Amino acid sequence: MQQDRLWNEWHPVCKSEELQDDPKQVFVLGERVVIFRNEKGVHAFKDLCIHRGAALSLGKVVDGNLVCAYHAWEYNSEGTCVKIPALPCERPIPKKAKATVYHCQEYLGLIWVNLGDEPIQLINYPEYNQEGYRTIICGSYEVKANAPRIIENFLDVSHLMFVHEGMLGDTDHAEIVDYDVEFLDGRFITSKIPVYQPNADGRSKGGYTDYVYEILSPTAARFTKTTEGSDEEFTILTVVNQEDHEQCNVYMLLTRNYDLDQPDEPFREFQDTIFYQDLDVVESQKPELLPLDLQAEMHLKSDALTIAYRRWLDELGIENGTMPINSDKKQRARKRPIQKKTA
Ligand code: FES
Ligand code: CO
Repeated sequence: MQQDRLWNEWHPVCKSEELQDDPKQVFVLGERVVIFRNEKGVHAFKDLCIHRGAALSLGKVVDGNLVCAYHAWEYNSEGTCVKIPALPCERPIPKKAKATVYHCQEYLGLIWVNLGDEPIQLINYPEYNQEGYRTIICGSYEVKANAPRIIENFLDVSHLMFVHEGMLGDTDHAEIVDYDVEFLDGRFITSKIPVYQPNADGRSKGGYTDYVYEILSPTAARFTKTTEGSDEEFTILTVVNQEDHEQCNVYMLLTRNYDLDQPDEPFREFQDTIFYQDLDVVESQKPELLPLDLQAEMHLKSDALTIAYRRWLDELGIENGTMPINSDKKQRARKRPIQKKTA
C-alpha cells in the first residue's frame, strides 16, 4: 500500500540543462537510474545493462540509442536492444535483451522520473508559464534527512521568526493567528496567514505579508506571498527527490511577477541563505522518520498545516513517513579519466 503511492509519484532528478548529450546517473528511492536525452525527448531506465550488469550511465548516446560502455549493446528509447556487436549478423537479438524502462518527463525546467506502473498526475504549477511571471530554479540542495521532514519544515510557519530572524520574521511578532486548512481540488490549502517580515525577499521592505500554503503531494508543497494593497506575488514551489535513506535533493522554484527586468542572482542568493539557515535544524531532527502518530510530538494550533500533512501521509498509508527505499545498496558509477601506465 505504502509502496503504491510513493512508487507512483514523480521525482525531480535534475535540471533540464544538466541533461545534455551524455547520459546521467540519478537515484530515486534508492534505485539507480540512468536518464538520457535524444530527439524524441527524455528517457529513464534502470541503470543496469542486462548483459553483465554494468551501469548504462557509463555509456553514451549514439543516434538516439543508449550504448553500454562495456560491450556496446545498444538500447533504443523503448529499452529494446537493437544492436549487439559481438553477435554474428545472421543471429537474431534475444527477445530478453531489454532495459527496464521508467517514466520520464521534462516539466518546469526539471527532469522527472516515475518508477511506478500507474503514475499519478504531475503536480500543477500554472505560474511557470504565465505571462508576466518569471521563475528561477534554486538548488539542488543536498539534505541528509527524509523528504517528509523537509516538506514539513517548508510548511512550518512559526519557525520563520527564529531561524530566519531579520529576514523572514521578527521575534517580537512571533504569534500566529488561527488559520484554516482545507482539502480542495486534490491539495491542501490554507487561508492567508499574516507574518511580519523585516525583509520579505531581500528587498528590505518591512511589514506584514500574507502566506497561503499548499500541499500538492507528499513531496511537493508551495506558498504564495502577497501584501495587501499590492499586486506583487511571490511563490516558492519546493519539490524533493528522496534519493536514498536520509538523503534528499531539493529544488525550489521561485516565481515573481515584479522586478522582471532585475537580475535573478539576488533572489537566488537570498534563497540559498534561507535554505542553509534551515539545514542544520532539519538534519538534526529525530526521529528521522516523521512521526505520524499525533501523540508522538506536541502540537499547537499554529501547527495546523503540518498536522494536516501528517494525517494525510497516514491516510495515504505512508507509515511513519517512511519512503519505500529500495534496500539494494548500489555503488555509484564513476567516470574516471583514463590513466595510462608509464614505463
Ligand atoms: Fe552492457 Fe555488456 S554489460 S554490453
Ligand atoms: Co525555514
